[in-house]
Amino acid sequence: MALPTSRRDRVIGGNWKMNLELDAALRLAGDLRGKLGSQRGARLLVFPPFPYLFPVLAKLRDSAFEVGAQDVHAKASGAFTSGVSASMVRSLGCTSVLVGHSERRSVFGDTDAIVADKLRAVLGEGLFPVFCIGETLAERQAGRTFDVLARQLTVLEAHAPAALARLVIAYEPVWAIGTGVTATPAQAQEVHAQIRGWVAGHLSAEFAARVPIQYGGSVNGDNAAALLAGPDIDGALVGGASLDVMAFSKIVLAAARP
Ligand code: 13P
Repeated sequence: MALPTSRRDRVIGGNWKMNLELDAALRLAGDLRGKLGSQRGARLLVFPPFPYLFPVLAKLRDSAFEVGAQDVHAKASGAFTSGVSASMVRSLGCTSVLVGHSERRSVFGDTDAIVADKLRAVLGEGLFPVFCIGETLAERQAGRTFDVLARQLTVLEAHAPAALARLVIAYEPVWAIGTGVTATPAQAQEVHAQIRGWVAGHLSAEFAARVPIQYGGSVNGDNAAALLAGPDIDGALVGGASLDVMAFSKIVLAAARP
């Protein structure tokens, strides 16, 4: 790709998933602000559970952190009890939404069609998607990793690169999420290069050169630097270790460009 990797944004996200009660969530946000609130050299995101978005936004206002939602409903408004729309999270001050996380796909049944609708809703509100893709262990063992990723990526084709300007892609192999088993740096780099190649072929080479691609799956303070050394690995989407300020800081410091 034409763009030197050093020109691409580094993006570190903390996906808190369904963890923490309010006090602990606010303590975590306060500790993150204290330790990393003026950090430069990487874009920092946290994705708290819905009920904590507003107080966490308040805690992190005017800091280096952006706050995003872990999901949204595809519809704008209406009789969808329990639904949370993209416009709601945008109106709170969120900038981003996780779209297509594997737990949404496998636990909540989000199909590619639902993911496509959510992507449209998120882009329609001017939010940027952190678009998650990844293969299961069975799919990897069957040699189908890239076929699966290419199928998941297809939903991006409905949008012009200009509309996707702030897109972040997160490669999260399902077998590495929450398992303590991390893709090796070589495995991650190989797939990231394939993803970037897909974007070059199906969207544009210029866009492919600048879209940040995060790795996710058991990233911690000890393995982050090796993973981030891959030329196509532009950051990390972190689950468990994002709940630990020291571990998350280590990951952020490993990612920060001078
Ligand atoms: P873990 O870091 O806990 O494996 O979770 C990764 C993830 O799913 C982030 O979205």
